[in-house]
Amino acid sequence: MATLKKLGILLSGRGSNFEAIADSVKAGRIPAEIAIVISNRADALGLESARKRGLNAKLIISKGRVREEHDAEVVSALKDAKVDLICLAGYMRLLSPEFVRAFPNKILNIHPSLLPAFPGLDAQKQALDYGVKVSGCTVHFVDEHLDHGCIILQKTVPVLDSDDEHALSARILEQEHIAYSEAVRMVVSGEIEIRDRRVVRLNVKGPA
Ligand code: GAR
Repeated sequence: MATLKKLGILLSGRGSNFEAIADSVKAGRIPAEIAIVISNRADALGLESARKRGLNAKLIISKGRVREEHDAEVVSALKDAKVDLICLAGYMRLLSPEFVRAFPNKILNIHPSLLPAFPGLDAQKQALDYGVKVSGCTVHFVDEHLDHGCIILQKTVPVLDSDDEHALSARILEQEHIAYSEAVRMVVSGEIEIRDRRVVRLNVKGPA
């Protein structure tokens, strides 16, 4: 049997996307194991959740540190854990080019909008303020530009007249949890390939 791919998760806060991935791993929906969970903030609920799950959880505080130095420490921890794929799960830090280059096409991110619309912070508020009628989430590979890498999958949700930021964020988050696990599964199973900017499904059995 092939050895399981190793995931590294980076988070900064609540960690609900991490938990969704961890649940999918546990249930066998993602053929991988979580080798390490790293938070850059001591108060991240996701870090506590990783510890409770008995995972290798590490705090590497970023506050007050030069980005390159902090990133070098995170890269070194990920390499020590021999990760095959890194999932940014609410990791609210820009990665340095050195970090991205250390793991080419091996870093995924989830963003709460239909990229390329509304990159950056407060994507759900940006969508509401703009007045779009449909929003959603995007799972993409990370490149050296913010919220810019090749898109693996997107899920849409309606924007309702009654929505405030909280209601829209909750509707999107529900889809994020489904989308992230599905994207990680596709990547670790070798079901996709990058052609120019397009991520295409290879011929695999089962529903598209
Ligand atoms: C999620 O909505 C995620 O898409 C967003 O932060 C939230 C983290 O929630 N990420 C970004 O905005 C990145 N640009 P979580 O900690 O519960 O997974």
